[in-house]
Amino acid sequence: MIGKLNHVAIAVPDLAAATAMYRGTLGAKVSEPKDEPDHGVTVVFVELENTKIEFLHPLGENSPIQAFLDKNPAGGMHHVCYEVEDIIVARDKLKAEGARILGNGEPKIGAHGKPVLFLHPKEFLGTLTELEQA
Ligand code: CO
Repeated sequence: MIGKLNHVAIAVPDLAAATAMYRGTLGAKVSEPKDEPDHGVTVVFVELENTKIEFLHPLGENSPIQAFLDKNPAGGMHHVCYEVEDIIVARDKLKAEGARILGNGEPKIGAHGKPVLFLHPKEFLGTLTELEQA
């Protein structure tokens, strides 16, 4: 059912430092920061040949990233995102198998303008897992 790895998201306490490290030390192609007020994050994209890394930094009050950084002050891997062909078909299959979908179970428009869902980490090897309709 899942296709390509779309991205791995890393929560970072300092976007400028994270950008400098990936651009300088690792020699990667790194975007400028982009605010996503609807998601409570500022995002930076690291473009790799086969996938992307996304840095997530809290934006505004009640950012979903803040609690994660409170627990992981140095930052850390926040979620992985896999592509699916049809997000409704994927959701219904997962629900039928007892997986929990976060939120109200309806896909939301994610940071790339495409429908996404998040699966509860408890059922997926302790890893928050995002599905994005490709
Ligand atoms: Co994501």
